[in-house]
Amino acid sequence: MSFVKEKIMQYNKKSISDIEVKGKKILLRCDFNIPLDPTGAITDDGRIISALPTIRYLLDQGAAVIACSHLGRPKGERSDEFSLKVVGERLTELLGKPVKMARDVIGEDARRLAAELKWGEIMLLENLRFHAEEEENDPEFARQLASLADIFVEDAFGSVHRAHASIEGVSHYLPAVAGFLLEKELYHIGKALADPKTPFVAILGGSKVSDKLGVIVNLLDKADTLLLGGGMAYTFIKARGGSIGSSICDDDRLQYARDVIEKAQKLGVRLVLPSDSLIAAETTENAEPQVVSSYDIPDGMMGIDIGPKAANEFVSIIKDAGTVIWNGPMGMFELPKFSNGSRMVAMAMTDPRIVSIVGGGDSAAAVRQFGLEGRVTHVSTGGGATLEFLEGKVLPGIDCLLDA
Ligand code: 3PG
Repeated sequence: MSFVKEKIMQYNKKSISDIEVKGKKILLRCDFNIPLDPTGAITDDGRIISALPTIRYLLDQGAAVIACSHLGRPKGERSDEFSLKVVGERLTELLGKPVKMARDVIGEDARRLAAELKWGEIMLLENLRFHAEEEENDPEFARQLASLADIFVEDAFGSVHRAHASIEGVSHYLPAVAGFLLEKELYHIGKALADPKTPFVAILGGSKVSDKLGVIVNLLDKADTLLLGGGMAYTFIKARGGSIGSSICDDDRLQYARDVIEKAQKLGVRLVLPSDSLIAAETTENAEPQVVSSYDIPDGMMGIDIGPKAANEFVSIIKDAGTVIWNGPMGMFELPKFSNGSRMVAMAMTDPRIVSIVGGGDSAAAVRQFGLEGRVTHVSTGGGATLEFLEGKVLPGIDCLLDA
């Protein structure tokens, strides 16, 4: 079997539209791990909004939905700080119907609410990580969770890289299928990896090379062009003999960077590094940025964004692409002075001729900050999950679902 076929088959899983859900109790795993401000208010409800199509479909079809998620890393301890109550309230507003909030996960309150839940109604369990057994993928905990429902629907794309009880464990006790969000993520990212409209351009950034080791290797086999920006680019620039001043450098990965440069040459993949950089002595709003060659950064100065020449080069490569996947910002986009590189990449990706996929995490935050979320083909809800997907890893929360 060809590699491409194998890859597509790996993602060919049963979804909620393949099964009868009417009159069934559904355990729906969502990723409601959303950012909260110090007062506990939601600062970005994107992951809740992304779960709505699956929830609405299940309720409209006459199922009863027992939604569940983790929030933060409470390490098996119950606490108000990590309660999902705030999510339940937001979900109630968005759905325009009450979401019954259980006071526990597999305790008396959850079991009673689940037993009394009527068709077309929804409840939300408390934070799964109030039980250490969740992250331990404890079979008994998974069995008790599963006993609340008839069918398991996996829609927490952001967590499918975790072999936890509510993600993988429950699939041993219930028929397990994908929800619409998971299907959408698999379709867009899976298709880009397995069968992209060419030329296929991958853009990687962010601060650390070590976060992207597997992703670079996997994408080298698939992409026509690889654009590297952000802090991680300086390790590659140093590996090519450049002077990078005090820019971020992963000295332990210099040989890895040389190997990647050599492999790209052998495979005929165009590897593009930023020719110039926006540099400064400090990473604050008071910094006074200068533009210099990325290969000639003075001591005491560091690259904080790709420079204007590099940004224009990246834009012209993106404009000629069929598919673009972007993971990791080009610079410190949170500060307006250093956001130009990421903004220009994001703007170029909005060209409607391009299949444009933003691979979650910080690059998704950048696209949202620039108000461009609705203008690219797909913004992934995953952080670590998207990275592992791009690495080509088998993800436990997908692997455990029923094959189509
Ligand atoms: C995420 O935000 O990446 C997911 O919700 C997974 O969270 P975790 O890294 O705490 O497992």
